[in-house]
Amino acid sequence: MAIKGVTIVDHPLVQHKLTLMRKKDTSIKSFRQLLKEIAALICYEVTRDLPLEMVEIETPLTTMSAPQLTGKKLVFAPVLRSGMGMLDGMLELAPAARVAHIGLYRDPATLSVVEYYFRAPADLADRPVIVIDPMLATGNTAIAAVDRLKEAGAQSIRMACLLASPEGISKFQGHHPEVRVWTAAVDERLNDHGYILPGLGDAGDRMYGTR
Ligand code: URA
Repeated sequence: MAIKGVTIVDHPLVQHKLTLMRKKDTSIKSFRQLLKEIAALICYEVTRDLPLEMVEIETPLTTMSAPQLTGKKLVFAPVLRSGMGMLDGMLELAPAARVAHIGLYRDPATLSVVEYYFRAPADLADRPVIVIDPMLATGNTAIAAVDRLKEAGAQSIRMACLLASPEGISKFQGHHPEVRVWTAAVDERLNDHGYILPGLGDAGDRMYGTR
């Protein structure tokens, strides 16, 4: 089912890798590697419509007018800690991007979001910003991350995740309707603890072996 403002990255490589990540017996090492690989493929889609400008260049044989990205470099904004698992894959495609770190955690009792770290380039207003958080579950963390980036001046924001819940998307879009979302899948629902079902468990724990 299509959801306005949400792009499902349905490339077969992404879907295959996501299935491997969902399996409970997938090792930490593989989980981390797969997340990095999927992140690069998702980044390819998130950046698909970045604006280009024509510039005059010289090839070894002649001159030509050729396209290059226009404007200031991208900012990737990973939400700590699991967003870090997607950062390197994205940086492989856009190695000159800047990085804004956003430290947020979900209070397990209330599921509300607490900020503990924020460090971003000063000129956020002039750059496209891509928020990175693998799990768009309740939507609270993504909403808080975008709130914080807007407060710091960001004006052009996109959201890249791996898995989303229908509840999370609808809540997120209620707060930030103009922020488009890219995800590999939208799962069935959240459970009572705010985990995505069927999902893949706790992305941070599976990435860092902290369970
Ligand atoms: N965060 C996770 O890591 N997994 C979920 O299912 C929900 C939030």
